[in-house]
Amino acid sequence: MAISIKSDREIELMREAGRILAITHEELSKALHEGMTTYDIDKLGEEIIRSYGCVPSFLNYQGYPASICVSVNDEVVHGIPSRKHFIKEGDIVSLDAGVIYKGYHSDAARTHGIGCISEEADKLIRITKECFFEAIKEVREGAHVGDISRAVQTHAENNGFSVVRELVGHGVGANLHEDPQVPNFVQKRRGARLQAGMTLAIEPMINAGGQNVKWLDDDWTVVTEDGSLSAHYENTILVTKDGCELLSVQ
Ligand code: MF3
Ligand code: CO
Repeated sequence: MAISIKSDREIELMREAGRILAITHEELSKALHEGMTTYDIDKLGEEIIRSYGCVPSFLNYQGYPASICVSVNDEVVHGIPSRKHFIKEGDIVSLDAGVIYKGYHSDAARTHGIGCISEEADKLIRITKECFFEAIKEVREGAHVGDISRAVQTHAENNGFSVVRELVGHGVGANLHEDPQVPNFVQKRRGARLQAGMTLAIEPMINAGGQNVKWLDDDWTVVTEDGSLSAHYENTILVTKDGCELLSVQ
């Protein structure tokens, strides 16, 4: 499939989707506390998203049973919220959310520390976010997807962390997942050339230990093979002539 170039009208709708998603993350980060369950986080997230007239895009996506992916500690992504899973001090909690506004998607993730967290956890969260900001320095018309991948991988590995290979960023728009794939590691090909009007979800998933991951029996939850911590940071961005615009940041 060709990579879609969004019209001005589509970009306007994606700006609004992104604005609402940024508010959702802001509200969730304020509400997050020790003793709540991952189910509580999901219900609150869904409520906020619906209060803005949006639909949570993950709910029932390929059978995913919730609105917010909540992934704790060694869980990389796609953790399933549960009434039995209580958040505790020292945890790191990745929240991944998607909203649909008038048919257009925005996709973003944040990782939060609960109370006092280890030095390693703190560094992992910080470096993962920095990986995203290093990546967007490369984005402009004429750059290639591989420039994003290289920036993420370089920053993660220079800091002693590793990059997940099995899951990648992606184009986003009228669909949650569109072309191109946006890997967080360098491949042999430099990948598609970026053009103004493309919209991408750039999402570093970084492990404190080794790069390998496995799937739990629920067929969704991805965890690190070695049990090490993992963090996730993601925004939906618009490629412009000379850079990019962050759509899911307030
Ligand atoms: N941000 C995640 C992704 O891009 C969202 C997963 S949606 C789910 O794949 F519904 F599949 F969980
Ligand atoms: Co995504």
